[in-house]
Amino acid sequence: MKVVFLGPPGAGKGTQAVRLCREEGITHMSTGEMLREAVKAGSEVGLKAKSYMDSGALVPDEVVIEIIEEKLNQTGWEESCLFDGFPRTVAQARALEEMLKSHGSALDHVIYLETSPEVAVERLGGRLTCRNCGANFHIRNMPPRRAGVCDECGGELCQRDDDRPESVQNRLKVYEAQTADLINYYVKKGLLRRVSGDLQADQVYTKVREALGL
Ligand code: AP5
Repeated sequence: MKVVFLGPPGAGKGTQAVRLCREEGITHMSTGEMLREAVKAGSEVGLKAKSYMDSGALVPDEVVIEIIEEKLNQTGWEESCLFDGFPRTVAQARALEEMLKSHGSALDHVIYLETSPEVAVERLGGRLTCRNCGANFHIRNMPPRRAGVCDECGGELCQRDDDRPESVQNRLKVYEAQTADLINYYVKKGLLRRVSGDLQADQVYTKVREALGL
């Protein structure tokens, strides 16, 4: 199975993806996570990506397409994959389609987590991320068992640089300007399934599974 999770920043893509991939043994491909790792490692890609990410802009298409292709080469093209935060532009969507096609594969579903801007802003403002393993929590909605400490690995929790209010506003604008077009793109392909991202996490999860026929 090849699935894309689409939706604005704060829709809960990562939260739902981590749970689904863990329960179903699917490979989680988050371009945001891969880019943050590259920034942390100080690699060439990380150095290119950092300023775009901090301001809430999209990293250039060719950079993320290359990262995804490399990752698929390592994972194996026949594996079940969930793409979280990729594609983000029509050019990325076309590149993904071509890559999969050339390896005899194709997307099965695109899940669109429809989420209101007010909910997205509240979630990003309260998100806590582990510096060590990248796990996400929320100060009110999904608090860690011990304040400031990751439940998964005991790492320190912090606010992501791009969750500052000025970056969040820019990310939402960038989403509307550059990513929202993908909704129509996938509607035309007959792949898009809509799920409300505004609901509680467990309710969203149930609906995502239904949409995937699981
Ligand atoms: P990325 O990491 O992909 O960020 P994003 O798409 O902005 O998404 P987020 O991670 O902010 O939100 P999410 O939907 O995963 O929500 P989450 O589950 O964490 O990208 C970061 C940057 O990298 C981009 O801005 C760009 O610069 C670059 N980039 C990445 N991919 C790119 C690409 N393809 N092309 C170009 N550039 C790219 O949840 C948010 C919070 O809400 C958490 O605290 C969570 O605990 C809580 N929560 C989740 N669900 C619920 C719920 N149902 N109810 C209550 N609380 C909830």
